[in-house]
Parts: sequence; structure tokens; C-alpha cells
Amino acid sequence: MKIVVLGAGYVGLVSAACFAEFGTQVTCVDQSEEKIDALSKGRIPIFEPGLDDLVERNVRNGNLSFATSMVPAIHDADAVFIAVGTPTRRGDGHADLSYVYGAAREIAQNLSRYTVVVTKSTVPVGTGHEIARLIRETNPTAEFDVCSNPEFLREGSAINDFMRPDRVVIGCESDRAAAVMKALYRPLYLIETPMVIAGLETAELTKYAANAFLAAKITFINEIADLCEKVGADVQTVAKGMGLDGRIGRKFLHAGPGYGGSCFPKDTLALMRTSQDKGVPMRLVEATIDVNNRRKKHMASRIMAACGDVVKGKTIAILGVTFKPNTDDMRDSVSLDVIPALQEAGAVVRAYDPEGMDEAEKLLPGVIWCKDAYEAMHGADAAAILTEWNEFRALDPARMKAVLKSPVLVDLRNIYKPEDMRAAGFHYTSIGRA
Ligand code: UGA
Repeated sequence: MKIVVLGAGYVGLVSAACFAEFGTQVTCVDQSEEKIDALSKGRIPIFEPGLDDLVERNVRNGNLSFATSMVPAIHDADAVFIAVGTPTRRGDGHADLSYVYGAAREIAQNLSRYTVVVTKSTVPVGTGHEIARLIRETNPTAEFDVCSNPEFLREGSAINDFMRPDRVVIGCESDRAAAVMKALYRPLYLIETPMVIAGLETAELTKYAANAFLAAKITFINEIADLCEKVGADVQTVAKGMGLDGRIGRKFLHAGPGYGGSCFPKDTLALMRTSQDKGVPMRLVEATIDVNNRRKKHMASRIMAACGDVVKGKTIAILGVTFKPNTDDMRDSVSLDVIPALQEAGAVVRAYDPEGMDEAEKLLPGVIWCKDAYEAMHGADAAAILTEWNEFRALDPARMKAVLKSPVLVDLRNIYKPEDMRAAGFHYTSIGRA
């Protein structure tokens, strides 16, 4: 089978490489000549474990190619996947669909045989039907169906999420389109992946519902963590005790500094706006957004509290600046709230991140960037762990104490045990553990 994937961003590139790995002929298209040029030479613009090997292998075996135009590949494609960006629209929180609709018009002008047009980008309910209308308007004789096939890829484990998903959701309205989609995902049938075949709106909403639910789940455990601190309970044990109930599940109950990234903040906001526009405001989603925003802003004051509430003239070491480990993505990372607040209060910030520093440097002026965690802690009055990179899990407490001016550690990801760190002589604080 042959497909075109529009957009060589995170979702487009991972999907293109994974479909190619399934044996599909994939052309991945992006308007950015610089990006396509780099990709054609085997340079991957994002950090995602395993993606470089996957791209390299499939370019070499001829299954994957890159182009700046969808023509000619679209002429004999069975499906075109729209995986362009849907950022939050400035000012109102709605998803900005201009790239999606632009792609739909261009597809319409170039359709020459029956093709399934698939939305992979996260798009609000109703977008699929609007795409169909736009294509019909632009090219009344075009033979096509529109499908929604939302992605459930987590940065850092996207390839595994694509190759071994919990489910595949396909929204479509014709048997012909469903047959094409099923054929594309045939390798997953062999591992008995559940397929949810639904209407367009149902598939579109499923994606938002899943992300908003996970965001609410994290926010719930974060609020329980705050209560744990007040009543002398341990949030990790509470999460385990809750999560072992099969109806709840243990995943996404890890308390922390608040969720970030390119998806939960944007998708909860878009869902909130859609629900308000439709006259059925989702109070739980609104509260989740509000509680999470406040939480991220509050994290700097936790670090200040560990320094006796005064950080003026003090040096703080920040370990990890990306929104989660195994990515170089800084979008909506808690570090973007914490570091400027510390600097505003007069602190000098030294920081280290294994992958995120190139991007972070542009967003966080005035930070002293270091080559490793120990260099960041050198002479610091306190250290704070913001991202749970594996290399921070096994730091040597004796060496940390030797380089820090005072043994103060604020662990916003709960990667150390309080009793171990206290025994090692640290003034240690974490999340939801009295
Ligand atoms: C998320 C979803 O998990 C994917 O299923 C979805 O496809 C993707 O959004 C998307 O819509 O494209 P991602 O944003 O890559 O994936 O990262 P997550 O692993 O979900 O983490 C999001 C945030 O929640 C991070 O800041 C993370 O630190 C935080 N988190 C996650 C917690 O604080 N606690 C947890 O227990 C889990």
C-alpha cells in the first residue's frame, strides 16, 4: 500500500516511519525545505529514542522517502494522513486549524483517484466533516472519504506506542474507507490490537476525552499529594492502593509538579472551549486546567521554602528542564514557570538537562548551563529535580554533598526515598510524602 503523510513534525515523522516499518510505501511531506533536506540526509530534527534507526532503515530499504510537495506521491496513494500542527489559537484557547484546512484544500486540488483522507493531528469534533466539505467545494468530482485516526503516542516512547498500542481508533463513514484503514493496520491485527471503529465525531472526541481524563487523573493525585503532606500520609502508597483497583489502574497516578508538554495543556484547553461553545461546559476539565496552572506556578515557592524562603543572592541547581524525560521538548514544561520565578526572586540558576538545553537556552535567558548534574550543583545552596531523567536516579549522595554548598534537595518527581536522603544527611523535600 502507499500513503502520504503531511507534516514531518513529531506525530507525522513517527507515524511515517512506523507505517514504513509495517511495509507500507510512505512519502512524508513537509513544506520546510530545511527539514526535508536534513531528513533526507538522515538527520532527525527531534530527539525520540529509536526514531533515527527506524528512519534510516526504512529510507535505505526504500519504504520511506521525504518530499516538500505531495505531488506526485498523492496520485497513487491509498491514503493521505494529515499530521500538521494544531497549536492553540492565540487569544481564545481554540485549536488553530488553519494548517489542517490548508492541507485539505491542497489535497483536494491533487486527488486523481479514490483516496482516504485521514486526520492524525488532534482536531476538534466536527473537523472531519469540515474537511470533507472543503474537499468537495474545491474539487466536486473528487473520489474520497475522510477518516479520523487519532494518535496516542507519548513522547519518549512513541515508537513502542505505535507498534504495540492499547487500541487503534478509526472514525469513518464508509466500508471502503474502513477497509483501507484496516489494511494499513493489518500488522497490528496479528498482535490482536483492539480496533475501535466509530463515526467521525466519536473518534475525534475519543482523543480529547482520553487526554483530558489522563490530565484530570494526574491532577487528582497531585491534589491528594498536597493533602498527604498536611495529614502525614504517603502519596505513592495511596496511589498504589488506589491503582491496584482494576477500575482505576496504576498508570498516570504519579504525583509531580503538574503536567506539561505539547498535548495535555493544549487539548484540555481546546476541549474546554468546545464544550463551552456547545453549551455544555465541562467543569471537571476547567478545574483540571486551573489547578494544574496554579500548581506549576507554585512549584518555585516550594524550592524557595526549602531555602528558608529567601533565595536572593543564592544559587539554585536545576536538574532537568524538559517536560518529561526522553525528549528534548520544552513545551509547557514546569521549568518555564520555576526558573524565571527563582530568577525574579534574586536567585542565580545553574541548570543541566541531558537533551533539552539547546531549546531551553532560547527560552530561559540568564541561566548558567552546565555539562552534567554535578557541575550544576557546584557551589549551589540547593538542588531541585524537575525532570525524572534516568541519570538523575542514581546520583551519588556523597558526591552531591561534596559539591553543594548546603545539602538541600527538592525532588519534584519523587525519585529518591526520603529516608535514604535523610540518612545521607540531606534536607530533603518531595511531593506528597510527609
Ligand atoms: C500524551 C498522552 O499520554 C499520549 O497518549 C497522547 O498521544 C499525547 O499526549 C498526544 O496527545 O499527542 P505526552 O504529552 O507525550 O503524551 O506525555 P505523557 O507521558 O502523557 O506526559 C504528559 C505530562 O504529564 C508530563 O509533564 C508528565 O510529567 C506528566 N505526568 C504523567 C505526571 O505528572 N504524572 C503521571 O503519572 C504521568
